[in-house]
Amino acid sequence: MLGTDTLLVSDDARVRVVTISRPKALNALNPEVIAGLSQVLDDTAAAARAGDVRALVLTGAGEKSFVAGADIAAMADMSVGTAREFARAGHGVGEALAGLPIPTIAAVHGFALGGGCELALACDFIYAAENAKFGQPEVKLGVIPGFGGTQRLARRVGLARALELCLTGDTIDAAEAARIGLVNRVLPAAELLPAALATARKIAEMGPVAVAEAKRVLHAGAGLPLAQANALEIEAFAGLFDTADQKEGMAAFLGKRKPEFRGQ
Ligand code: CAA
Repeated sequence: MLGTDTLLVSDDARVRVVTISRPKALNALNPEVIAGLSQVLDDTAAAARAGDVRALVLTGAGEKSFVAGADIAAMADMSVGTAREFARAGHGVGEALAGLPIPTIAAVHGFALGGGCELALACDFIYAAENAKFGQPEVKLGVIPGFGGTQRLARRVGLARALELCLTGDTIDAAEAARIGLVNRVLPAAELLPAALATARKIAEMGPVAVAEAKRVLHAGAGLPLAQANALEIEAFAGLFDTADQKEGMAAFLGKRKPEFRGQ
């Protein structure tokens, strides 16, 4: 049985929804939640390879918060060694999300602070409710982001904006987050999850091998010099001509019918 007391997992039409659920602590990430996420993402990778899951939406339970950060009560007495392990585990979750061969969408309402902002950033893109608030307030606690915030945020919004957020600890609203490119879409709260699910379902209809390759090449290329990144694209593009999905996709277009992709 997937999921735990603090992590709800449901599958519908090959879209998996993972809900972090500690509403009394605004869904703060303690070691138990991180371990649970890691397990769920391992299972999701296997389900994606088997073709059973084709997209993932990550969200938080309750009205007030996506995730208000790593759990401060759990961190307060950590030693250097325990903090390192905790940060490594958080980074492991980020890497697992980025490494999934399916799209991951963060549906953010309310607070996405600290580890919450970092978790959302580890998804392929973010949809936000109008009430969403983003920030990296770790400096207020005498620490810095530990789940990827100094790196993924800078890559998403640019070094100067990431510096301003990480150094001031300021919180920005959804409109500002969209303006700086942290968030792709801003929606009324009631439309947030339906919109994320609609996008997930749309992608789930595409050729799964092509979706996985597009994600892999975009992520891998972002860290490479342009010439190397372009070479990666050429190889991935060419490699797809050895798949049944490419034959089906192009035959369906030419035959004026809907393709039936099998993910092969
Ligand atoms: N960790 C643990 N508990 C948290 C929490 C967190 N990150 N955020 C909120 N909570 C708990 C509160 O302690 C409170 O619990 P009690 O009811 O038992 O007192 C409950 O959630 C509700 O919170 P508030 O009463 O504070 O709610 P509010 O509406 O007044 O304020 C808030 C909301 C502005 C988000 C405020 O809770 C807050 O500032 N939270 C901390 C945000 C933060 O600093 N996040 C970064 C953590 S460090 C980090 O994430 C490091 C990393 O990169 C790995």
